[in-house]
Amino acid sequence: MKYLSLIIGFVFTLCISHQAKGQEKESINDNRLEWFENAKLGIFIHWGYYGVNGISESWSMYHKKISYEDYMKQGKGFTAKNYDPVKWARLFKKIGARYAVMTTKHHDGVSLWDTRFSTLNVTEKTPAKKNLVAPYVDALREEGLKVGLYYSLCDWSHPDYDVVFPRPDTRKDYPQRGQENLTKWERFVRFYKGQLKELSDQYQPDLYWFDGDWEKSSEEWRAESLKDSLLSWNPKTIVNSRLKTHGDYSTPEQGVPVVRPEGPWEFCMTMNDNWGYFPTDTNYKPSSQIIRTFVEVIASGGNLLLDIGMKPDGTIPKEQEERLETLGTWINKHNKVVFDTEAGLPYGHFYGPTLLSKDKTKLYLCIFDTPKNYISLKGIQNKIKSIKVVGKNQDLSFVRNGGASWNNIPGIVRIETLEKENLDAYVTVLEVTLEGELKLYRGHGNAVELN
Ligand code: GLC
Repeated sequence: MKYLSLIIGFVFTLCISHQAKGQEKESINDNRLEWFENAKLGIFIHWGYYGVNGISESWSMYHKKISYEDYMKQGKGFTAKNYDPVKWARLFKKIGARYAVMTTKHHDGVSLWDTRFSTLNVTEKTPAKKNLVAPYVDALREEGLKVGLYYSLCDWSHPDYDVVFPRPDTRKDYPQRGQENLTKWERFVRFYKGQLKELSDQYQPDLYWFDGDWEKSSEEWRAESLKDSLLSWNPKTIVNSRLKTHGDYSTPEQGVPVVRPEGPWEFCMTMNDNWGYFPTDTNYKPSSQIIRTFVEVIASGGNLLLDIGMKPDGTIPKEQEERLETLGTWINKHNKVVFDTEAGLPYGHFYGPTLLSKDKTKLYLCIFDTPKNYISLKGIQNKIKSIKVVGKNQDLSFVRNGGASWNNIPGIVRIETLEKENLDAYVTVLEVTLEGELKLYRGHGNAVELN
């Protein structure tokens, strides 16, 4: 009996401590994503050897367009001689970005910081001769921007990571003394965990942007325990979706989502067709397209992570800087529309993206083209107090047409079209002030039973 009560007591304590552990985990995770969900704009920076020849980042080697040896020779031209992260950070802040994500190590395995886990890093192998991650982190923090570090899990240089293209013996770049008894994969796991611990300890990143997880399974990456380790090293950090199923938010790439993704998300996009500096790629998206995409993304509750292919000397290509500035001018003119809002109306109420103020009493209608005849808004139950053009102070007249409010069928709000001079060069925004919090009609119609 005595033993039985001892066992019951033991099991009970186990359950309690397990529950407490769960709660602890939850409270560690509390509010981690709050800043991210309000960030709206982030800047992606792809900076690496590949910009020297102007070829595709890491993939040129994978697709055997260049040999491993010639790819690595590009290091000699990676100078970072005009690297001015303070200037970068000021520009990002000025245009309205709230965070940046820089490639600390792409699939090619070259580290942008002076890692002790491999000599394949810019301090040892390039004329840049210095850690490039530390000044970036300091400059962002100085401007109050959140720090994101991109890290490729797959590593096409590491001797213990098998690749599909010919590669010389790279062991001399990886001091792995005392690990001969481990399996190849075990050594590799130690390597990337070691590098991530280094990044964590030295920079306490607000965000880890993993990549390349598709090459192995969740078990092989030890994804769950890796996530636990990242959080134990830095309880506030967040992780993108490329850690198999253990990410905190989803990461669609290059094609704007057509259906609103669920949960927090971020859309990453290049300005031309390449992530890295690629001077022969002149297929640039016009600023108008970048601004529209930004509006579409935030209207669906996401962030845009807009990429810069940084030059090997550390400067931003002119075409990209111009686009950043133009986007910034639009954002600054529409500051409250961008930052005091959340995702707008579901499909069907308005032909175009919309945003809703956080207190839900203002609706923002985004207009891409010159409207004809009138602008219509459907399914709004509230009375409307006013409709203004953002940045112009023009009050627009409107009438409610059709519907049967006593039967909860709101009809159509017909808004007068704008004067030409009140149209924004890119996206015009109308501010609709509602009486009370937004109430939507989402029905598909029925008989008006009482007239
Ligand atoms: C893809 C590519 C990689 C690029 C990344 C950016 O994963 O493999 O080269 O850095 O997209 O999102």
